[in-house]
Amino acid sequence: MGVTMHLVPEEEQILEGEYGETRQKMLEILVALGKVFGAERLVPIQSAQVSGASYKTVGEAGLEWIRRLDARVSVPTVLNPVGMDRVSWRDMDISPEFARKQEEVIAAYARLGIRLECTCTPYYIYQTRFGEHLAWSESSAVAYANSVIGARTNREGGPGALAAAIIGKTPEYGLHLVTERRPEIHISVKVGLTEKLADSAWFGALGYHIGKIVGNRIPLISGVRPNRGQLKALGAAMAASGAVALFHVAGITPEARIFSYNGADLETIDVFAEEVMAIRHEIPVDAVALGCPHCSSEELGVIAGLLLGKRVKIPLYIFASRNVIEGNRDLVTTIERSGAKVYADTCMVVSPAMERFGAIMVNSGKAFAYVPTMCRASVRIGTTEECVQVATTLNRP
Ligand code: F3S
Repeated sequence: MGVTMHLVPEEEQILEGEYGETRQKMLEILVALGKVFGAERLVPIQSAQVSGASYKTVGEAGLEWIRRLDARVSVPTVLNPVGMDRVSWRDMDISPEFARKQEEVIAAYARLGIRLECTCTPYYIYQTRFGEHLAWSESSAVAYANSVIGARTNREGGPGALAAAIIGKTPEYGLHLVTERRPEIHISVKVGLTEKLADSAWFGALGYHIGKIVGNRIPLISGVRPNRGQLKALGAAMAASGAVALFHVAGITPEARIFSYNGADLETIDVFAEEVMAIRHEIPVDAVALGCPHCSSEELGVIAGLLLGKRVKIPLYIFASRNVIEGNRDLVTTIERSGAKVYADTCMVVSPAMERFGAIMVNSGKAFAYVPTMCRASVRIGTTEECVQVATTLNRP
């Protein structure tokens, strides 16, 4: 684009190698990205989240690359979910070879000062505030940070997020600029659908439908009043079926009111109940998986309440970050008393453990989008209550 980035003296010195080869290489990555996307400068970030953490995706070459890095991160940084629960991997039928390699990847990241928390919900770990710049990479976390919190992050690739974590800055382009955060299409959710959307699963279904319509455009959604959990489900699904990194919900999300919206400015698409609910196919399943994105404390509470005094008849897996699990030991005990399993560090999509099932029931629009390809299984979506019911009763539609 021919834009020259303005670098401060310290950045110039890093580029000249005065702070070591790793920092020099990391800043070169950021400057190259900035030039491609027309950034004029780097902005300081508050935290980073690095993808490319599962050995399934990193592989030997990636592991060697991370091992050669010789620097520490400058801001709080977490990893995306990896391929297994780091404590209970045997229980997940993970092979010792995979577990050893996965631990080598994690150890290589730990040497850089990255927190050994592997989660797609860094917002349950870091207090993230409106207007802060971040370098996060997992698509649902990016959608949540931008839309629900009003923080600013592009969807970083693994090397870009790691470079930003080490330098503590990211190029200022895309969603870091307020001018790039305006709604680009209006989605009007019609009466008739809103009453059905009581459960997060149906916000996931709505997001799955909207994502297909909008692609990578920024939608302004009207006609719904989701809470935070429902916004999480909505954004995760839109990021999966489309490539939505920021959305606004009229009267709900923090920036919806900043952009003075006049309906005539934007293409408007009406969304009706039948289109969204067409996602529902009541096929028999042989496992149920909850926690995509990773469960909040409230979601663990709901699941524990539904499982109280019951036994599971088919595998029921629940995924959450380790800090949420550690903070809710009583709920986890109640859940596990039913025979269900609560796993940290990993998820139903990135772990090879889910590949042994032929059909999986989920309560997430994002998981609905990914399970067929990533787990090579058929998928069914239902509310959390329906998922628990299927897991604890007969495996029938
Ligand atoms: Fe998180 Fe895995 Fe879903 S990374 S958003 S639980 S696919």
